[in-house]
Amino acid sequence: MTGKSWDRVPIDAQSIDAPLSRAAVFLVLSVTDGPPALAKVCSVLDGLDDLVKTVGFRDLAGRLSCIVGIGRDLWDRLQPGSRPRELKAFVPVEGAVHKAPSTPGDLLFHIRAERTDLCFEFERLLLDALGAGVTVVDEVAGFRYFDARDLLGFVDGTANPTGLDLPASALVGDEDAGFEGGSYVVVQKYLHDLDAWARIPTPLQEAIIGRTKIDNVEIDDDDAPRKSHKSLATIVDADGNEHDILRDNMPFGRPGQREFGTYFIGYSRYLWVVEKMLERMYVGDPPGAYDRLLDVSTPHTGTTFFAPARPALQRLVRAAQAQLAAEPEGGRTS
Ligand code: HEM
Repeated sequence: MTGKSWDRVPIDAQSIDAPLSRAAVFLVLSVTDGPPALAKVCSVLDGLDDLVKTVGFRDLAGRLSCIVGIGRDLWDRLQPGSRPRELKAFVPVEGAVHKAPSTPGDLLFHIRAERTDLCFEFERLLLDALGAGVTVVDEVAGFRYFDARDLLGFVDGTANPTGLDLPASALVGDEDAGFEGGSYVVVQKYLHDLDAWARIPTPLQEAIIGRTKIDNVEIDDDDAPRKSHKSLATIVDADGNEHDILRDNMPFGRPGQREFGTYFIGYSRYLWVVEKMLERMYVGDPPGAYDRLLDVSTPHTGTTFFAPARPALQRLVRAAQAQLAAEPEGGRTS
C-alpha cells in the first residue's frame, strides 16, 4: 500500500487497492463457446496491462485502473483442475420476503477513473479487441455522488478497511497457494424505489442504515429491537475476529426513466464472508428480521468472480494458451 506512485506511472492492471474514483464502469460479459473465443479472450487478457497504459498515460491524474474478474465456468475452461479454493457461481439467497438472484457472467471488468471519458475510451478499445469472442450481459456506468453518497442520501463506503487492513481483508493470503494477492469479487445491481424511501422519516432511515444521514456518524444499535444494515453486514467469527470486505459501490441511473440504482461491488479475501453478509441481510438476524434497506432496493443481478493478482493472471492465460495450442483445432482465432 505504501510507496505507490500513481501520479507518475499508470496504475497496474489488477490493482485492487487502486483509489476509489469519481467514475466507474462495471462490465459483465459472457465468453462465446469454442476455442477461437477462448484464444481471443486470452490474448486480450495478456495485453490488459498495456491497454491500461495506452489509455491511462494520456492523463495520469485521471488514475485509470482496471480489474478483471473471472467466473467459475470460464475459469474451468481456461485451466481445468486448478481454481481458487472458494470460487463458485453466485448462490441465490432466499429470505422470507426478499430474494437475491444469481445471474450469468464469465468476465467482470471494473474500470475506474477520475474522468468518465477515460473509462469510456478504455471500455471501447477493450470491447473492440474482444470482438465476437464475447457478448455483453450487463453494462453500468456509475458516478460519485457528492460526498460519496448513495442515491438514498447516505455516505457509502466509510467503514472500508484502510492501510494494512485493506490487503488483510480483501486479498487472498498464503491459505490458498498460487492465488495469493487475488480477491473474490461479488457484484449485484440494485434498483431503488426512491419514492418509497422518501416516505420513510429520516430517523427511521438512519436506524435502517445504522448511521446518521447528514454527518455520517455511526449509531450504536446493539440494544435496538431490529438490526441496521451496518450491523447485519458486520461479520464476527467464532474466535471474535471481525471480517471486513472492500466495497466500491457506485450510484447510477436515468432520472428520465425513473431509474435509480446502486451497483454493489465487494472484494473479499474469503468468499464465505460476503455470503454470510448476504444471508444476514436477506434471511435476517434473527431469521425474519431482514435488512429493511431491501424494502426499497431490488437486486437485478448477482454474480461471483475471482480477480487474480497480475502474475497469477499471466500464468492462467499462458497455461490456457499452451493448452489451446496443443489441441488439434485449438488456438485459431480466424
Ligand atoms: C442497495 C445496496 C446497498 C447500499 C445502498 C448500501 C449502503 C451502505 C451504507 C450507506 C453503509 C454505511 C456506511 C459505510 O460504512 O459504508 C453500508 C455499510 C456496509 N455495507 Fe452496504 N449497502 C448496500 C449493499 C450491501 C451489500 C449487498 C453488502 C454485502 C454483501 C454490503 C456490505 C456492507 C458492509 C460490510 C458495510 C460496513 C459495515 C460496518 O460498519 O462494518 N452492503 N452500506
